[in-house]
Amino acid sequence: MNDDLESKIEEAIKNPRNLGEMKDADAVGTVGSVDCGDMLRMWIKFKEENGRQVIDRATFQSFGCQTAIAVASVATQLLKGKTADEAKKMSGEELSASLGPLPPVKIHCAQLVEGALRNALEGEGASVPNRKENAPTLLEQIAGSRKKMKIVLDREP
Ligand code: FES
Repeated sequence: MNDDLESKIEEAIKNPRNLGEMKDADAVGTVGSVDCGDMLRMWIKFKEENGRQVIDRATFQSFGCQTAIAVASVATQLLKGKTADEAKKMSGEELSASLGPLPPVKIHCAQLVEGALRNALEGEGASVPNRKENAPTLLEQIAGSRKKMKIVLDREP
């Protein structure tokens, strides 16, 4: 990883934005990486703006690597004001753009964030957001896993 990317990731890790469960979310999505076993969950809240439903807030929790946390941090900031359709079209590369290009070995970290976002907005092939009341907790979902995971605890807002 180049120094600039490393320092941006370090900065995002020191002060991750939008970290933590959102109790009043409209949608939630969880995804696990087959490459490394890391997991990420994203919560989305919509609001009405000029006659359109746009993303008001997005938050995340991660059992994953620092790059995924950094990407989720910048992505959740970027999603504000986007419609579900606009957000669904965003690639991992676009979501992580403010960090700069990721090395090939870290591209799947951004795809983890993209996957959680799509899962929240589409569910399992559904056209409506994945309702949060249908989702197991992230801890329930990783309970069966024996992989080593880094746990990022919620912080007070
Ligand atoms: Fe797997 Fe980053 S190493 S998400």
